[in-house]
Amino acid sequence: MKAVKRVIALVLAVVLCIAFAACGTTTNNTSSSATGSQESKKATSDAAEAKPTNGKLVMATNASFPPYEYYENETIVGIDAEVAALIADKLGMELEIKDMEFGSIIGAVQTGSVDMGMAGMTVTEDRLVTVDFSDTYATAVQVVIVKEGSEIQSVDDLTGKKIGVQENTTGDIYASEDFGEENIKRYSKGNDAVAALAAGIIDAVIIDNEPAKSYVAANDGLAILETSYADEEYAIAISKENTELKEKINKALGELKADGTLDSIIKKYIPEE
Ligand code: ARG
Repeated sequence: MKAVKRVIALVLAVVLCIAFAACGTTTNNTSSSATGSQESKKATSDAAEAKPTNGKLVMATNASFPPYEYYENETIVGIDAEVAALIADKLGMELEIKDMEFGSIIGAVQTGSVDMGMAGMTVTEDRLVTVDFSDTYATAVQVVIVKEGSEIQSVDDLTGKKIGVQENTTGDIYASEDFGEENIKRYSKGNDAVAALAAGIIDAVIIDNEPAKSYVAANDGLAILETSYADEEYAIAISKENTELKEKINKALGELKADGTLDSIIKKYIPEE
């Protein structure tokens, strides 16, 4: 009898462990959708099947990147969220946004656990090896944030300084190449890098210009250098195997560009100076 109980206990423990592990893998993925927690459970099983749900356009992003994607209360808003919702509409699909580490987005697109990655993502040669990109929808520049009155006045002055970046972004990749791995401090979010700069832990942050403006506005005593670091273009990452979706997205994007919708969304979030 004891032995039977032990076996039952063991089986129970194994089942619990498996259930726990399955939950554990999704803790980073916050689903933002009107239907809330049910939605995120569904997303989990979809991810497990590595196949997007019919009728749903699942977008991966990293929602700490204003004005492209950020939280307003529990909801992810921003240029990317709005444009994606309109694309989904045009495709007759419902948009579901999954928030994850920036560095996980390309893999999620590649394995098919999401349909697309939209995260102020720069088109680069390296990324094009693993995923496809839609037509571009915005231009951006990598800029340098320093403390007001810093002795760093141009990109050249960054040599030997401690530079903060958001991990796996182009800022990270370029700065690591140009200034040496040993001088780069990687943060999971851009605003964590900016907080470290404000606290005097690092000397500068290299990041995209629009989030830079918003981080600087939210923190006293920071400034963006006049000289920028790199020019880039944003596009939507799509699996190389999903050319049909890429064509549909490009068609939808084309319409949003042609009728001025894209422009007005960008202007709404980025008022002209
Ligand atoms: N444009 C940069 C890149 O593609 C940074 C993008 C970061 N985006 C984000 N949602 N955190 O690497």
